[in-house]
Amino acid sequence: FDLQRLNTLAIPARAQFYVAVTSSEEVLEALSFAAERQLPVLPLGGGSNIVLAGDYPGLVMHIKLHGIELVDEDETSVWVRAAAGENWHKFVQHCLVMGCYGLENLSLIPGSVGAAPIQNIGAYGVEVKDRVTELSAIDIRSGLPVTFTAESCNFAYRDSVFKHSAQDRYIITSVTFKLDRAANLVLEYPSLRQRLQLAAPKNSDIADVTPITPEQVAAAVIAVRQEKLPNPVDTPNAGSFFKNPIVDAAQFARLRKRFADIIAYPQADGTVKLAAGWLIDRAGWRGYRDGDVVVHAEQALVITNPGRGAGANVLALADKITQSVQERYGVRLELEPRVYPEMGSV
Ligand code: EPU
Repeated sequence: FDLQRLNTLAIPARAQFYVAVTSSEEVLEALSFAAERQLPVLPLGGGSNIVLAGDYPGLVMHIKLHGIELVDEDETSVWVRAAAGENWHKFVQHCLVMGCYGLENLSLIPGSVGAAPIQNIGAYGVEVKDRVTELSAIDIRSGLPVTFTAESCNFAYRDSVFKHSAQDRYIITSVTFKLDRAANLVLEYPSLRQRLQLAAPKNSDIADVTPITPEQVAAAVIAVRQEKLPNPVDTPNAGSFFKNPIVDAAQFARLRKRFADIIAYPQADGTVKLAAGWLIDRAGWRGYRDGDVVVHAEQALVITNPGRGAGANVLALADKITQSVQERYGVRLELEPRVYPEMGSV
């Protein structure tokens, strides 16, 4: 089964077996099929955070579970449960229309609801962990339903239990979010602030008294993303290709002596998160072309695959960038998307 249209890097790779599942019963049937043949299972959402390094020697399970429901509410909050196969951006927009706020900064992130908690998607000062209360999953080995509380998901920057002890063990079927009835806007991110001020009416008196709405924040986020990030429909990509690396205070002090304008975000625990895009950009990679693959000219953190070539080409360029950043700054970059099949098994 050809996976090229099902991964946003448009890598031509095949799955040994493929099934689209629309209900929990179909998930269970597909799991029995895989178990009987001892096949590994790859749950596939929007395909926007994977690199297919080769053909997948197992069952690709395309998660097409749909439905959004209001499960509870009180005076200030609304609990909304969304099935894993819902498109993330459509879900965010649906919440806005329902008057349920808190996800507006996460507008236009590609991918599905079910994939969102795995890497704790985040943008413009908000992470999905801020709103997830629990999620439902099916245990791949036993077929039994499991509930994860937000706490048991061990969320951290671009990280969760599903990238560690729970990796490859569960099919996430739905996610529940606690949202606000009144707007509680997060407007710290510089490019977002800038965009909202530009979008404000010329008459500053009006701008001062007119409160910004969550809908305006969503529109600003969409505009900023469209400026910097390539649309995978025209230019195949998987968003940020590297995580922003976290260094200790001593290493940061040494780096700042050498690179006075380094962009960094101090963390609550004393460590410092560096802007990987800046590191890669200043190492000279922005706009670099290597055959089929390109370092995006507007944002060095994104690798695009306009030639729609093999995953190996994408990974080879990522490797060159990682080595160059290591040599120049002594900082180790980690890939953000997941590579399939696993390196060792290719
Ligand atoms: N920068 C450069 N050159 C570049 C790219 C960035 O100098 O080529 C500088 C920017 O000027 C800015 C800083 O680096 O001062 C950070 O850049 P940006 O604001 O674009 O954000 P980012 O750190 O590159 C992260 C997330 C994005 C998310 C944005 C906005 C990661 C790995 N990426 O990018 O998430 O949209 O912040 O919050 O954390 C994704 O994960 O796929 C993704 C797009």
